[in-house]
Amino acid sequence: MGDEKVKLFGICGSPRKGATDYIVQEALRYAKEMYDVETEYFSAMGKKINFCIHCDYCIREKKGCVHNDDMQNVYEKLKWADALIIGTPVYQGMVSGQTKVIMDRCRAIAAQDIHFILNKPGAAIAVGGDRIGGQEPSIQAILNFYVINEAIPVGGGSFGANLGASFWSKDRGAEGAKEDEEGLKSMRKTINRLLKLALMIQKTKETL
Ligand SMILES: Cc1cc2nc3c(=O)[nH]c(=O)nc-3n(C[C@H](O)[C@H](O)[C@H](O)COP(=O)(O)O)c2cc1C
Repeated sequence: MGDEKVKLFGICGSPRKGATDYIVQEALRYAKEMYDVETEYFSAMGKKINFCIHCDYCIREKKGCVHNDDMQNVYEKLKWADALIIGTPVYQGMVSGQTKVIMDRCRAIAAQDIHFILNKPGAAIAVGGDRIGGQEPSIQAILNFYVINEAIPVGGGSFGANLGASFWSKDRGAEGAKEDEEGLKSMRKTINRLLKLALMIQKTKETL
């Protein structure tokens, strides 16, 4: 008791190895450097993730999703984790289709266990090609996902991060993200809040 590492799971909702992939992995690296955490990473790149088809198999059977695809890995890691990060590229002022489908498909795991991410703190990262391209609505959509599924949405705090980590890649992939000092600051502030809360929750669980 007392020396268990916080388990941190990072999801990247980009279909390529670009800015979001770099930032989510950098967030996991930063968390490892600063806190006693173990991490897992899932990128949508190259993965088979079907749309939710609203067949209600998950509601009727309570055996998970009718699709047997790469979401099985996400389900396992969501259950394993103590804290969550979801990073998305901004597409048309909103989360990417991949990020949205990952969130939609969690209906199946909720149907099986409605508390699948109960009280797990979660943070959001959004990366736009434009400076003001829809990062905030994208972050908000991810924070809403946490609220809906009983997780605890975490921002980064005022003076630098506000709702979460917000990046401007200038459409230059990882290179653009690396150069975004303000974005990196917002990521570090957000990760600090996320891990401090995760540690508090871990301590509380140990005393209960
Ligand atoms: C279909 C599509 C729609 C996009 N829409 C927006 C947008 O609304 N706002 C914005 O700032 N950038 C937009 N972009 C640019 C990406 O958000 C930007 O290049 C981002 O860094 C991509 O992330 P990635 O490098 O992780 O793939 C769009 C890109 C694509 C492919």
